[in-house]
Amino acid sequence: MTVAEKTLIDEINELREKKNAVILAHYYQRGEIQDIADFIGDSLELARRAQETDADIIVFAGVRFMAETAKILNPEKKVLHPNPESGCPMADMATYEGVKKLKEEHPDAAVVAYVNTNADVKTLADVIVTSRNAVKVVKALEEDKIIFVPDQFLGGFIAQQVPEKEFILWKGFCPPHFNLSPDQLLELKEKYPDAKIAVHPECNTKTTEIADFVGSTSQIIEFATTCDAENVIIGTEVGLKHQLEKINPNKNYIFPVNADYCGTVHCCDMKKNTLDKIKEVLENETNEIVLPEEIIEKARKPLDRMLQIV
Ligand code: 13P
Ligand code: SF4
Repeated sequence: MTVAEKTLIDEINELREKKNAVILAHYYQRGEIQDIADFIGDSLELARRAQETDADIIVFAGVRFMAETAKILNPEKKVLHPNPESGCPMADMATYEGVKKLKEEHPDAAVVAYVNTNADVKTLADVIVTSRNAVKVVKALEEDKIIFVPDQFLGGFIAQQVPEKEFILWKGFCPPHFNLSPDQLLELKEKYPDAKIAVHPECNTKTTEIADFVGSTSQIIEFATTCDAENVIIGTEVGLKHQLEKINPNKNYIFPVNADYCGTVHCCDMKKNTLDKIKEVLENETNEIVLPEEIIEKARKPLDRMLQIV
């Protein structure tokens, strides 16, 4: 670590203490952000932490829908987003008007929204899910017909696990995960025949079908660091490498090279947050997440419902 980096971290720590702030970070954040976070987790774990914290300020190092979710679940807190440019392209694929129309066309269906949606779309949902709890939540619903937005691949994965229900899938997708091809994984498997394959359910269907394990970012970390294979092929964003190597450095974690998209499975938006930006928002209390009260109230219901189920 350089002297400048150490000074920056000292400044962040001083501000965090003085302002009673907590820094929450997703696993796809840069390693140096993960290292200074008070808590790192998958979307569900981060939402719970945000809801439970007694800090006055939450600095949310993740993409915008995650920071919005923190605000909806704990509206009394000041939620600061280090870089307002850090959005989720998949969340932006589902529009309020489009989802409203689909809901009107299928009044007997339950609207299940992935947490990767913008706050206005959440207001139309009957329940929210994350990659960790989606199958369990959908199974628990009374309705036999499900509108799932926006990820067609997570939706397709749930539909495979819950064949007794009918699914109408929004055609959104996560660009980094979509571009991870099953051929890349199979090539790696040929090179490391004893390896296990763990992937995120946002990957395309052919990819999830050849995996030994499909789960959320936290679940992938748990599987990869504890399974009996020495080599584990990881089908998700490369940010996970940092924690995997910290938690169990005795294994070989293999990330597919993806020539089509930033060289690896890489979420450019997640990487827009930096230590400099974290210091800046803590110091000046800028980039606050502000949502209309009506949106907070309406979006909170499906989020609360999810948290009651799991
Ligand atoms: P997790 O809930 O698994 O952390 O996933 C969040 C996400 O955006 C994956 O692309
Ligand atoms: Fe969105 Fe995909 Fe990035 Fe996750 S990895 S934040 S789904 S673009």
